[in-house]
Amino acid sequence: MSIDPDRLKFFSYLLFTKLEGAVTSGMAHLGDQLGLYRAMASARQPLTTAQLAAATGLHERWVREWAYNQASAKLISFSTEPSQTPTLDDDTFFLSPEQVAVLADESHPAFGMGMFHRLPQTMESLKRMPESFRTGIGHNYDSHGPDGAVGIERSFEPWNNANLIPVVLPAVGIIDLLRRGANVADVGCGAGGAVLRMAKEFPKSRVVGYDISQFALARARERLADSRLTNARFTDPRTEPLPNDNSLDFVCTFDCIHDMTHPLDVMRAIRASLKQDGVWLLVDIKAHDTFAMNAEKNPMAALMYGISVLSCMSSAMATPDGAGLGTLGLSAMTAETMARTAGFSKFERLSVDHSVNAFYAIRP
Ligand SMILES: C[S@@+](CC[C@H](N)C(=O)[O-])C[C@H]1O[C@@H](n2cnc3c(N)ncnc32)[C@H](O)[C@@H]1O
Repeated sequence: MSIDPDRLKFFSYLLFTKLEGAVTSGMAHLGDQLGLYRAMASARQPLTTAQLAAATGLHERWVREWAYNQASAKLISFSTEPSQTPTLDDDTFFLSPEQVAVLADESHPAFGMGMFHRLPQTMESLKRMPESFRTGIGHNYDSHGPDGAVGIERSFEPWNNANLIPVVLPAVGIIDLLRRGANVADVGCGAGGAVLRMAKEFPKSRVVGYDISQFALARARERLADSRLTNARFTDPRTEPLPNDNSLDFVCTFDCIHDMTHPLDVMRAIRASLKQDGVWLLVDIKAHDTFAMNAEKNPMAALMYGISVLSCMSSAMATPDGAGLGTLGLSAMTAETMARTAGFSKFERLSVDHSVNAFYAIRP
């Protein structure tokens, strides 16, 4: 087989765009961790690299090379005013309003730095992968350390902060009950953002967060202590399982069923915990039924399959009999089939608009 020189060039280019993405992602991690994006967002005018270095207390030469990477990648903006004798002051750097929202404004629903927060931990897991590929055994979320839990918190909370109470819960039709006082569980609660938000908004309800990550539970309990809420708590379901006496009104699972080693068992436990008129809100990645459909219809498919190997599927394979669904493993059809197997009879897709997630209200 002969090699077509143009195709060869194109394929090499394609490969190195992936490396560019990886390296630039590392630079985005630094931009977040070192406060570079935040300093640019709060500056009143475009900054030279000397000004950006002064604003962040960093070394100008390093900041300059970082800014050149970020501006070349179009993640930050720049303008150049060429002078007769070029100087470093010719180039200034700034963020557009959209760049501020995604890179620097943690209160904006589009804030995107969470996955970059945990990038070193995610990539560190590459070292464990050869062994996992041989044995089949993956690693749970605690393998990413405490910063893994904070990264997850920063990934999901910006959108949830803006949408959980005003958009998602009304779509489930649960607001009145929560106001009157309901028994609520958030299974796979991570650092507890949804639990704390619901407990604060609905003081008559009692909200329990369940997670098997000790780092996530520690972070959730720290935030609970800061909040002074008395109607929320966090626990590990391996020592304190969900109640199995049909006593809960509302159970939610946000982006975690596909991470679980035994998702069907968890669904059965949720079913046994719910009252006959209770409801389970399942939020999980919008996945299609086949690889070919995901590859065709999801522009983020490669990212998601990669994260799956390093994080989601790894977690779901953390025991020898793990189900291993992975990031794109819970399509609507799979979710419905599993929910019915677990004893649920009503499965409804909610019309909540989200770039990555699908929302389902599932009832006994
Ligand atoms: C991607 S994180 C989502 C966390 C949280 N729901 C959020 O939206 O921020 C998945 C979480 O599921 C948890 N998890 C995995 N298996 C679990 C299980 N069997 N029971 C409870 N939590 C589990 C992990 O420890 C991790 O905190």
